[in-house]
Amino acid sequence: MPGFLITFEGIEGCGKSVQAKLLYEHLQSKGISSVLTREPGGSDISERIREILLDRRHLDMVPYTELFLYLASRAQHTQEVIKPALAQGKTVICDRYIDASLAYQGEGRSISRALVNQLNKTATGGLMPNLTFLLDIEPEIALKRIERGDRLEIESMEFHNRVRSGYLKLYRENSDRIVLLDGTKSIKQIHNEIKDIFEARMMKLE
Ligand SMILES: Nc1ncnc2c1ncn2[C@@H]1O[C@H](COP(=O)(O)OP(=O)(O)OP(=O)(O)O)[C@@H](O)[C@H]1O
Ligand SMILES: [Mg+2]
Repeated sequence: MPGFLITFEGIEGCGKSVQAKLLYEHLQSKGISSVLTREPGGSDISERIREILLDRRHLDMVPYTELFLYLASRAQHTQEVIKPALAQGKTVICDRYIDASLAYQGEGRSISRALVNQLNKTATGGLMPNLTFLLDIEPEIALKRIERGDRLEIESMEFHNRVRSGYLKLYRENSDRIVLLDGTKSIKQIHNEIKDIFEARMMKLE
């Protein structure tokens, strides 16, 4: 049986990495063979691209450079990590994937969605997530949780709000794939909801 690709999406500080890890640990405890990985990054080349993307000295990075770097990282990571794991029947949990480019570079940087969609397809060979968890929260709350000061985190509130609405638009258009979760609930509450939804989806597949 081919594997299952789960992605986590949402603005900075919404809780993606925490929830991705909790789900991974849950699957491991149930003996479900899984891989936890992230974007940008997840492979040597992609992690080096991540450093360029997040470096706060790179404030002069233009939108197309940003888009192409994310796509370069995604192409390498999909080919090198995600596809081989899925081919082995593993469940892959990926912290950010294609929707992030649509929300950040599309909505946030005003690059044409059609172009981002097309380039996402090129970078991934059309590999779509089976299930996406979108953690929704106001940027004012989410950004208070983190204080890394990387290039994206220090963007304006207006930018983060545009990205958030970009994500909500994606949810409305893909509500069969994307599950919307309230990121202000407790870590435990959200984890329980995620476990229930994952199990329900798996039962449907069986
Ligand atoms: N539901 C929650 N309630 C309160 N705090 C939370 C919640 N979820 C995560 N946090 C805390 O917020 C911080 C950011 O969480 P996390 O790293 O998972 O966010 P993220 O979405 O991965 O952020 P980034 O996009 O910057 O990687 C962490 O300190 C985490 O413990
Ligand atoms: Mg994270």
